Amino acid sequence: MAIEFSERIRRIPVYPAAGGYATPDELALLASNESPYPPLPAVRAAIEAATGRLNRYPDPTSTVLKTRLSERYGVPLSRIAIGNGSCDVLLAAGEALLEPGAELVYAWPSFSVYPHLAAASGAGAITVPLDAEDRHDLPAMLREITVATRLVIVCNPNNPTSTALPLAEIASFVEQVPPHVCVILDEAYCEYNLLEDPDASLDLLDAHPNLVLLRTFSKVYGLCGLRVGFALCGSEELPRALDQVRQPFFCNVLAQAAAVEALAHQDAVTDRVTRTIAERISVGERLQAMGVQAAESQANFCWLRLGAERDEQAIMKGLLERGILVRSGSALGSEEPALRVTYGLPEENTRFLDALAELL
Ligand SMILES: Cc1ncc(COP(=O)(O)O)c(C=O)c1O
Repeated sequence: MAIEFSERIRRIPVYPAAGGYATPDELALLASNESPYPPLPAVRAAIEAATGRLNRYPDPTSTVLKTRLSERYGVPLSRIAIGNGSCDVLLAAGEALLEPGAELVYAWPSFSVYPHLAAASGAGAITVPLDAEDRHDLPAMLREITVATRLVIVCNPNNPTSTALPLAEIASFVEQVPPHVCVILDEAYCEYNLLEDPDASLDLLDAHPNLVLLRTFSKVYGLCGLRVGFALCGSEELPRALDQVRQPFFCNVLAQAAAVEALAHQDAVTDRVTRTIAERISVGERLQAMGVQAAESQANFCWLRLGAERDEQAIMKGLLERGILVRSGSALGSEEPALRVTYGLPEENTRFLDALAELL
């Protein structure tokens, strides 16, 4: 007889991750919005030094890391939450805030983990289509907030469409959300956004105890292999609740050490962001010359609308045969053929563009 699973398991979608590919050397990995740059030598040295402490549990309070984050962002330690990646914070927020009868509001297509929050908790998922320019439709999202709403997620810049909204629009949105509804502003890619100073959203925190800024070491810091993210919160309540629903020691020794060291090298981070933005501009110019319709990217990836007549899967297959892994738009919620392509190293981007030109 087959094992009987919970109703919850039947609801939870399987994360559409790529995997099982050969070795990164053989393939240009442009599918997961990772940094193409390896960790800095000083970060690797900090990780190496921390391996000597692996017989001990990690600091369950991540106090050194929280202290550095507090110094950098001016948010008290008690209003900072750490996670085993920012996904961990998202899932824990879902567990802490949602339950059957409650509702979660988010845009769609957006980050593929958001549907998990509702599915896992039995809450209702209210999805709001993006506007014609693939951006969040905040007025429409506001209209979906009801007495049942517990959580609203705004992803800025949005994954998978790469688009961003001006902070003024987000500020006005947060102003209109009832104060008992938690708003998570997922800023995994904010450092790549040229519309705003990445730290401008911090000004909203003091006025809005229900606001959470979600950040990660996975993207600009290039540490996704270690899993560490954080949330800067408007109040102390959410970090406390997140810790209640998670296992202790969720952020490992190496991740904490690496993140602390990474924070000390902001010049290198800025340099890498600048290089990625330079790639964004040159890839954008070539795509335009090829007649490919791309959303206006403020992230480290682009969102390409291939046109209804194109065969997305055939193009994905053709790219893979040429050593390039990208993400399928339909797997990420697009109703039309689309691709999400991370900006890699210059030679990887050239390989991708040459292959795409050939396939189109
Ligand atoms: C919008 C968004 N939020 C959060 C994450 C989660 O990142 P991590 O769990 O690696 O911190 C991602 C990862 O791709 C993302 O795209």
